[in-house]
Amino acid sequence: MTSPVVDIYLTADHAEISLREDARLGLTSSPKWLPSKWFYDARGSELFEEITRLPEYYPTRAERSILVTHAGDIARRTGAHTLVELGSGSSEKTRLLLGAMRAEGTLREYVPLDVSETALRDAIAGMHEGFPMLAIHAVVGDFTKHLDRIPGQAPRMVAFLGGTIGNLFPDERATFLSELHETLAPGDWLLLGTDLVKDPGVLVPAYDDAAGITAEFNRNVLAVLNRELGGDFDIENYEHVALWDSENEWIEMRLRSTAAAKVTLSELALDIVLEAGEEIRTEISAKFRRKGVERELATAGFGLDSWWTDPEGRFALSLARAR
Ligand code: SAH
Ligand code: TRP
Repeated sequence: MTSPVVDIYLTADHAEISLREDARLGLTSSPKWLPSKWFYDARGSELFEEITRLPEYYPTRAERSILVTHAGDIARRTGAHTLVELGSGSSEKTRLLLGAMRAEGTLREYVPLDVSETALRDAIAGMHEGFPMLAIHAVVGDFTKHLDRIPGQAPRMVAFLGGTIGNLFPDERATFLSELHETLAPGDWLLLGTDLVKDPGVLVPAYDDAAGITAEFNRNVLAVLNRELGGDFDIENYEHVALWDSENEWIEMRLRSTAAAKVTLSELALDIVLEAGEEIRTEISAKFRRKGVERELATAGFGLDSWWTDPEGRFALSLARAR
């Protein structure tokens, strides 16, 4: 058995440089915004795991139920040797896929990629117990930047679960999907998890839970700025806002400053001014319909092979093949 290899493409320096650029750009724009990958420091990754267990947050359970039912079909249809996973987080649901690929006799290698080094290391630490023969090659990287560096033997399957694709804007999604297609060989597979459009009465609470964990997760991005960029945000003065944008069919998360504020980011030598009630956009989570997913995949060069939903039709897994 070989021990896991961890490639680090996001060095502390690199992360700091792009955090600086993102923070300067976003906080000097109008309206102000912050890119969502900065939620996931060690604390943010922990809070996300708590979110996945909330009663209101159905996507994780719905996606898991699809995997419980169809992981065998996925393993059989793809015959993949390498499972690449983008934004792998805790890799918890992934075990269902790995188990099915092992039962199929095709599994050789697992390549999880995440910006969160702590989440990645925690995830692979427990992996060898369940999968002693599995080669693990983890990548600390950004799936909007480092797709060309993903290792692994063909045929490969790239899993992108959790509805994380919905955290990209439509133009970013198109770029991401075609860049991914470019790195794959014809015949390689994409397994894509997408949350589906549904009653806002179900959607909104999933992003604004009664226990306030999502609010804490959202505000954590300010703690990251305070720590990494010498910021002085008064974090308790920011309210979590989650609203359904019915035109764009996405949930939008914001942080609303309850008071007028002047915030200094000393590492950037930047002062920013917020009016009372002013909002910073922190995240979108787009919701999908089958036709749209099929169209976006086709535009990027993927043909839809299978479409599965949970019994309640809340969440979908698409299996698509690179042409
Ligand atoms: N796949 C897991 C986790 C989803 S949360 C699940 O389904 O439960 C989103 C994950 O993507 C987090 O682990 C976060 O650290 C990671 N992530 C967010 N933006 C990223 C980026 N640009 N590049 C790589 N990973 C990213
Ligand atoms: N990919 C997850 C989703 O869109 C990420 C997520 C869940 C999230 N809850 C959040 C991101 C709250 C920001 C804030 O469902």
